[in-house]
Amino acid sequence: MSLNEVRCLPQCGSTNLYAKEHIEEFGPVGAVYTTCQTDGRGRLGRRWVNAAGQALYYTAVLKVPMVQPGTLPLLASLAVRKQLALRYGVECAIKWPNDLLLGGKKVVGILCEAVSYGTNDQGRGYLCGIGINLAQPQSYFDQAELPYGTSLLLQGARVDLETDPSWLAEGLTDFGFDRELYTFGPEGFAPYREEYTAACVNLGRQVSFNQGGHAGTGTATGIDSEGRLIVRTDSGEERVFTGEVSIHGIYGHL
Ligand code: BTN
Repeated sequence: MSLNEVRCLPQCGSTNLYAKEHIEEFGPVGAVYTTCQTDGRGRLGRRWVNAAGQALYYTAVLKVPMVQPGTLPLLASLAVRKQLALRYGVECAIKWPNDLLLGGKKVVGILCEAVSYGTNDQGRGYLCGIGINLAQPQSYFDQAELPYGTSLLLQGARVDLETDPSWLAEGLTDFGFDRELYTFGPEGFAPYREEYTAACVNLGRQVSFNQGGHAGTGTATGIDSEGRLIVRTDSGEERVFTGEVSIHGIYGHL
């Protein structure tokens, strides 16, 4: 097995689940991907619908120490954003914490999970599950009732379904994660804060948040060095670190 194994599967239930079940076979940085995922998982307990042969379903398996694993979703969004810029010349916006948008619609979703493995569960690993909508037609989003979803193809990118999935999977693993972990592992999110802030679509807009039942509305004013969204509300400043944040005025509430 090579050091950074990038494993391609003809299909699977969920690449995150596969990575969890096979975590001992990967590492310290590896990945698994497919273009047909029949039981995909999304954030906040949602499902991630399959688009057989038209999307990339990818999970990075990271078994390296990190000082700020809670900010991995933000690093992952930057990693995907960079690969999509290289491959297609597109500039995705980031909706905090880790959705990528093109034309104001969601083109990439990311689900990061921490896992324990090995003797007495002493090993610590992190999974970055990434779904990239490559070439679904509009009818796919209509039928799946995803009015705020889009694909790279629909946004004008020249997608090659033969070569793009492996190119993106290899690039994400080697450059998006492996190389960046030399910085992100010991230093965390702070070195990426400026780049992230420049791409974050929430900033300067009215947002609503709900973290653990605590809901509020205000203006998003920044991202702090711990990756939290800073929101100025009538009752003071809030730092949002989890849950759902919607942006007012972008396709209703996105
Ligand atoms: C979201 O809800 O926005 C996150 C979606 C994450 C989907 C990806 S597809 C690859 C990986 N495997 C899964 O089951 N989920 C993630």
